[in-house]
Amino acid sequence: MYFARFTLPLQGKTTEDMKILIINGPNLNLLGRREPGIYGSESFEDYLPQLRQRYPQVEIEYFQSNVEGELINKMQEVGFTYDGIVLNAGAYTHTSVALHDCIRAINTPVIEVHISNVHTREEFRHHSMISAACRGVICGFGLDSYRLAIEAICK
Ligand code: DQA
Repeated sequence: MYFARFTLPLQGKTTEDMKILIINGPNLNLLGRREPGIYGSESFEDYLPQLRQRYPQVEIEYFQSNVEGELINKMQEVGFTYDGIVLNAGAYTHTSVALHDCIRAINTPVIEVHISNVHTREEFRHHSMISAACRGVICGFGLDSYRLAIEAICK
């Protein structure tokens, strides 16, 4: 497989020394078992090695928590040094002013990701508290949403 060596105009970096953190919020530790008709039957632990294999030149870290404050602590920890954060905030997407503020407070660009197409689901999922603070939003492509977000950061 051939991996292009992209130069990122803003950071002057190549994808070879990039660091990306994937953050999954509440209930996403149950992927594979949780509502498989909506979220699929693959666990994130099974998916992650495939993603890492596809982007061997990128350091991809992973963090999951069901606790809002822990998501914020993690974003603050990496948010001034990492090249990108891929954030699936789960249900906090629809409620959290604190996550919105955190995304605005850090320098690292955050891509909002959803496995399901939230706009085809219940109305309470149609509004995101974090989209306006994020660099972009990817939703509805199953686990491939995470790959598309990494692709966006690498370009
Ligand atoms: C989700 C969509 C949210 O509405 C929901 O609360 C989740 C998962 C998704 O990935 O499709 O936990 O973020």
